[in-house]
Amino acid sequence: MLKDERGLEYTVGSQEAMRAFDKTIDAFFRLGFDTGACLKVTLETDPEMPMAHCLQGYFFLFMASSPLTERAKRSHQKSLEHSTNSSPREEAHIKALGCWCADDKARAMRIWDQILEDHPLDVVALRLGHYAHFYAGDSSTMRHCLESTFSAWDPSMPNYSHVLGMRAFAFEEGGDYEQSEKLGRKALELDAVDPWAVHAVSHTMEMQERRSEGVVWITERETDWLGANNFRYHLIWHRALMYWGLGDFDRVLQIYDEQLWDPKSDEYADLCNDASLLMRLEYVGIDVGNRWADLHQKVEGRAEEHMLTFADVHFASMFASVGDMAGVNRLVESFAEKGGAVRMEVGVPLAQAVADYCSGAYKQAQKALIELRGRIIEIGGSHTQRDIFELLMIEASIKSGDTATARHMLENRTKLNPSNGLNWKKLAEILPGVDEAAANTARTRAAELLVA
Ligand SMILES: [Fe+2]
Repeated sequence: MLKDERGLEYTVGSQEAMRAFDKTIDAFFRLGFDTGACLKVTLETDPEMPMAHCLQGYFFLFMASSPLTERAKRSHQKSLEHSTNSSPREEAHIKALGCWCADDKARAMRIWDQILEDHPLDVVALRLGHYAHFYAGDSSTMRHCLESTFSAWDPSMPNYSHVLGMRAFAFEEGGDYEQSEKLGRKALELDAVDPWAVHAVSHTMEMQERRSEGVVWITERETDWLGANNFRYHLIWHRALMYWGLGDFDRVLQIYDEQLWDPKSDEYADLCNDASLLMRLEYVGIDVGNRWADLHQKVEGRAEEHMLTFADVHFASMFASVGDMAGVNRLVESFAEKGGAVRMEVGVPLAQAVADYCSGAYKQAQKALIELRGRIIEIGGSHTQRDIFELLMIEASIKSGDTATARHMLENRTKLNPSNGLNWKKLAEILPGVDEAAANTARTRAAELLVA
């Protein structure tokens, strides 16, 4: 047994392999391009290190891609083969990987939470729990995991600042924007290469309608996050979203084409970013041309994967927007066959509702989206990401002739965020002939707040 940089013990054959594992963890926190390469070095240095195989399995599953699940299962097998002398903590990780491979993420999540209770400095459990609670829509437990373990951390420990960055994001999702920004800024003062901390503060600025400031925030730190893995596209997405909120739709299209769209990427997170932005552009009446067709090509063969509910509901938009209803049916039917409460009660009907919306069945889409409204959080993702479903509810209401419902939702949004110009713009479009005074007010506010 040797110790990592934070003093946790690992079954490992040499100091060299232990240091290579530490380097992998550091790259993992930085969302670095080189994370996989660092892990490869670790495994070459010690091909029998159980936690290195386990981490490799975790990395494969992070990608939420069906072919990689088979590779994760092989990594799980290897970690088991080399686990004769493993510690209970390592055994717990291997068990969690097995659960995740078997599609039992809830059990894996409980194991990571337990590991953290016993070993608060287990950064692998901390990072995986952060990810898993995020995609379970549970920001309260996401924050609890960080806050309950934080007292074990010392500022001199490697990746201390990255933990601050994770806390910044958890506070943002919990609605504590002041604390989120404070922690995010502190994290970046200590170590500028932390795309997750940049991201956390970007979310806070988005939620607080500080979009011009948000564009500057993301852009000023570009040299520190452009070296990230595909997560850099998510920061580009956030920047595009800020321009969208400001009403600069030409710029959004330009960003989509020149910075966001990666013809070679098939990562689910990139596909979700792309689809979500196209839906937002269409919401404000922009013709997105053949961009849906390009996206559809990427998911055509993936209708039956179902690795992540959040991704599935976005995939549904890619099939339906090009009229591939056979693809929608394949996706929805095979999705239902997978079972599970969140999938059956939220994921499947939401995927169908998104598909209905994108194929023009607005009345059906509106009814389903409104019924699901209180449960959409269960598919995970951030508040900002899930806002697309509320926008679809509004637009489905308008397009199905239910102006009263759309008006009610938009007026609520203007009360919550009076400086959001797009809500006023939409109100200005639907109120003429209904309430001229309110239409005039909305038009004036939109003109004041939007760039075009
Ligand atoms: Fe985000």
